[in-house]
Amino acid sequence: MSSGLGTVLCVVGARPNLMKMAPVLRALASHVPTIPTLLVHTGQHYDNDMSGQLFEDLQLPRPDVNLEVGSGTHAVQTADVMRLFEPVVDAHRPSCVTVVGDVNSTLACALVAAKKGIPVVHIEAGLRSHDRTMPEEINRVLTDQISDRLYTTERTAHDNLRLEGVPSDRIVFAGNVMIDSVVFGRSSARRAASTLQTLNVHPAIWGHPMGYGVVTLHRPSNVDHPEILRALLGVLAEVAESLPVVFALHPRTRNNMERFGLMDMVDPVRMALLPPQGYLEMQGLVADASVVLTDSGGLQEETTALGVPCLTLRENTERPITVEQGTNMLVGRDRDMILAAVHEILNGRGKRGRVPEYWDGHAAERISADLYQWLSASQPSGCLKGGVQ
Ligand code: UD1
Repeated sequence: MSSGLGTVLCVVGARPNLMKMAPVLRALASHVPTIPTLLVHTGQHYDNDMSGQLFEDLQLPRPDVNLEVGSGTHAVQTADVMRLFEPVVDAHRPSCVTVVGDVNSTLACALVAAKKGIPVVHIEAGLRSHDRTMPEEINRVLTDQISDRLYTTERTAHDNLRLEGVPSDRIVFAGNVMIDSVVFGRSSARRAASTLQTLNVHPAIWGHPMGYGVVTLHRPSNVDHPEILRALLGVLAEVAESLPVVFALHPRTRNNMERFGLMDMVDPVRMALLPPQGYLEMQGLVADASVVLTDSGGLQEETTALGVPCLTLRENTERPITVEQGTNMLVGRDRDMILAAVHEILNGRGKRGRVPEYWDGHAAERISADLYQWLSASQPSGCLKGGVQ
């Protein structure tokens, strides 16, 4: 049965958008009555291992439209998405534009929609690192300011939004769609040992009595400066003396390690460099890890959901609930703190956490139910701004 509602245009652009949007699309499709959707991929991430493979793993439908913007400076990338997204919006006149997370595509598409008077729906709204040197923080703040319906993953997000003047009646605590994907993928996640064997990782790593650690790094603040990246790799090499690590390399990080001549800091018997992993491989690697060392936002949440200790190599986090309730610890780039934390974890004294409220695999269903009500209330002028305010 069709809902009679206009199309919900859903945007993805970069890798971390895909695991957030997949459950939302599923929930909209299975909502009774069905809510029609159009999936637009901006092409901000374009490599098969950053994008294509993940569509399969997450059972995402093929995008209806691909803008193929590719890489560029922030200004060029954002401008290209806006320029190419506008005609898509004109052609489809959606009932709303739904964006997730905090990447350049999120802000660019929200801005196009807002200027055209099309309601903007932001999923994962209100997270703040309070660090405006992060490009993602700028994207978060601006996207939230121009959004009409804001779905949050933790209650502190509501406070952040209220402080920035967002009216309470636009904000809905729905839970964490990223964890919907963790729950969805749990039964099909690949076993870590088989992934590592397939990738020819040295058996000294995956057969180590202490297990192994998983590393990911891609934040510009950690990987764009030769001295900082060199120091971090030095600490990771020290960690690897007691616990071997597998390092899933983001293209930005690999490029910089090559450019800065840092590849020979890696001892392949203690530290395996892996290409970006598929979703199901990564879930398996993380679930079986002794510890995860990362600067990723998503991994802070996934480790909390899976109960795996996480050391976040940043000074701040926009996801404080993972520290307050979950398994996450902020360690920055502090060598002594990182080594001490790994030592504690290996001695069974790692931080234990619990799974936060509404990180239960049903966030997307709560979103689709609310979105249906909200869009219905703004009918028949469904293309106009407003709704239940
Ligand atoms: C982007 C997001 C970040 C997110 C991250 C996850 C912004 C501002 N940043 O950062 O929030 O956590 O994605 O991965 O939107 N590249 C490839 N292949 C690809 C994609 C990128 O080689 O498929 C290269 C690009 O050429 C560029 C580098 O990787 O040199 C960075 O890509 P970019 O999209 O600029 O930002 P990310 O660092 O990936």
